[in-house]
Amino acid sequence: MKLRIRRLSYPLGAEITGLDIREALDEGAVAAIRAAFLEHCVLLFRGVALTQAQHVAFSRRFGDLEKTPEFRTRDRVPAHPEILLVSNRPRPGESIRAYVGEGWHSDRSNTTRPAMASLLRAAEIPEVGGDTMFSNLYLAYETLSDGMKKMIAGLEGVHMLDVPRQVDTSTAERAAETRRSNITAQPLVRVHPETGRKALFVGEHKLKRIAGMSEEEGRPLIKFLCAHAARAQFIYRHRWQQDDLLMWDNRCTNHLAVYDFDRTKIRHMERTTVIGTPSGYPYEGPLS
Ligand code: SIN
Repeated sequence: MKLRIRRLSYPLGAEITGLDIREALDEGAVAAIRAAFLEHCVLLFRGVALTQAQHVAFSRRFGDLEKTPEFRTRDRVPAHPEILLVSNRPRPGESIRAYVGEGWHSDRSNTTRPAMASLLRAAEIPEVGGDTMFSNLYLAYETLSDGMKKMIAGLEGVHMLDVPRQVDTSTAERAAETRRSNITAQPLVRVHPETGRKALFVGEHKLKRIAGMSEEEGRPLIKFLCAHAARAQFIYRHRWQQDDLLMWDNRCTNHLAVYDFDRTKIRHMERTTVIGTPSGYPYEGPLS
């Protein structure tokens, strides 16, 4: 079979057909997927009923995978720690729970090893709603004025979660260390390590301040850049079908889960995360 590519929207996204990703792919097929990934930033493999083991095996062809830490028992699949559950499925003793992933972001930007790629599979989806939106951050950067590009060239944004998670509480030192590694200063403009293109590195969900500026000084700039990065002409909106697998490049895209569906319905997604190259440094400056 031969790989075929169909673009999904003008700014980004392409559907890949013509190969079975449940099988062990040869090097040529992986290289072709990789080239499409670099060109289109988001790839769709429509309705492939991957087992969890196949999901992990396919993801591994693109690099080392993150493991969900053991203390995050609620989001973890014990047999496949490489899979992160992104789900509103209630756990024992809970009523339906809040959904995560709302707010534009790039995975793991709050760490010094931001994700290279994420591969998200729709295991259970509501009949309508719960789409995922993607924005092309190359275009967001390229459409800024020269003046703005010059102004942000050397600036860093501080990325953190509202409540820093992934804190290893096994010892006080580990807790302090992992807490620090969850608040990271990243360049506002990053150079994609494979394509060499520049992309904006912002996102309302995690970008809380500009390093070296007061919160008040940085706020208008953050507001402008985040709104700019989310302009309609940079967006692809994916309407999920059962067993779709989306693979996106976190180094040049942001994404957002649209939390618009009936809250009594289940949206259960399973994600693997390919570890990226080091970026940024642990931020230890003021936070408020
Ligand atoms: C994520 O933020 O990684 C998940 C996005 C989604 O659930 O649509």
